[in-house]
Amino acid sequence: MLITTQKNYNAYLSRMEELLAQINNYKQEIENFISYSNDAAESFRIKFLGIKGIVKSMMQEMKNVPAEKKKEAGLSLNEFKQIAEAKYEKLKLQTTTSELQIKEDIDYTLPGDAITIGTRHPLSIVRNRIISIFNRLGFTLAEGPEIEDDWHNFTSMNMPKNHPARDMQDTFYVHQNPDWLLRTHTSNVQARVMEKQKPPIRIICPGRVYRNETISARAHCFFHQVEGLYVDDNVSFADLKQTLYFFVQEMFGNDVRIRFRPSYFPFTEPSAEMDISCLICSGSGCNICKYTGWVEILGSGMVHPNVLSTFNIDPEVYTGFAFGMGIERICQLKYRVNDLRLYSQNDVRFLKQFAGVII
Ligand code: DAH
Repeated sequence: MLITTQKNYNAYLSRMEELLAQINNYKQEIENFISYSNDAAESFRIKFLGIKGIVKSMMQEMKNVPAEKKKEAGLSLNEFKQIAEAKYEKLKLQTTTSELQIKEDIDYTLPGDAITIGTRHPLSIVRNRIISIFNRLGFTLAEGPEIEDDWHNFTSMNMPKNHPARDMQDTFYVHQNPDWLLRTHTSNVQARVMEKQKPPIRIICPGRVYRNETISARAHCFFHQVEGLYVDDNVSFADLKQTLYFFVQEMFGNDVRIRFRPSYFPFTEPSAEMDISCLICSGSGCNICKYTGWVEILGSGMVHPNVLSTFNIDPEVYTGFAFGMGIERICQLKYRVNDLRLYSQNDVRFLKQFAGVII
């Protein structure tokens, strides 16, 4: 380095002293540097030993150091560099050992955190079971809207306006509009299917239905039904009986007895309600069967000729049977659920009991 003036020389000298003082400060800083995190070693390296780090920039200043002072400054800087490098190696080692330490602290024999798996809702379990039984008899799944017009829910099912049977089902109307309602039964799906499809028709239609009832253990403003419909040539009441008998045996076992009682539904003629022997008391009498030994599980009948004609299906050529059952009732008998409100309260203590039930 060419030293031109006394003034410059003095400036370089004082700069060198400054550097030596800085080195001492940095040495202190290095000594106190504690690694708190895994990337502490890396940030240390960047600060002191990186391309733009402190050691490098001090090396560059060496060229300005007066010749007779170069040795002293060089030695000091070199020592500083070595201290930084040694510290860096130490920090690297500390990081890896602390990582190892963490691994060693894990007790692999501890049981893992239990994962709670949700359970199927009992109504879904029963619904799926019903569908699969009827699937095996060739019934396919059909669905229809829950918000329905008067025609599909009532009129087409042989219940014209002012028909007294409409009173059997207390109806919710949408926006007070007498034409739009929440379906009161799944029989609307019969209408939805027959207006599009011609026989043979063999469908099973699960779904939610609504009635304007006060909620209690025995009544709810919404519940679930499964509707069945079979229309073809030569479908007889014997087919209806045999189909439902098969269903009951598959659902409740071979020991259950069934009986049909004459009944009335506007959309079937003749109509019958089907009872099964009480599963709770095996027929000896209890409060579920009201001490009769029998519980009603569904309504059924031969599709009324008026209904077939409405959909341009010739009642002289085709006959059919239909039935409708409440899923809640089947579930009550199968799993002894006595309060309808339990199904919609979402109490996990109730729902958990159905974990692992095979569908
Ligand atoms: N829709 C009837 C109800 O909700 C149930 C029913 C009875 C459906 C007889 C049918 C049937 O298809 O044939 O009470």
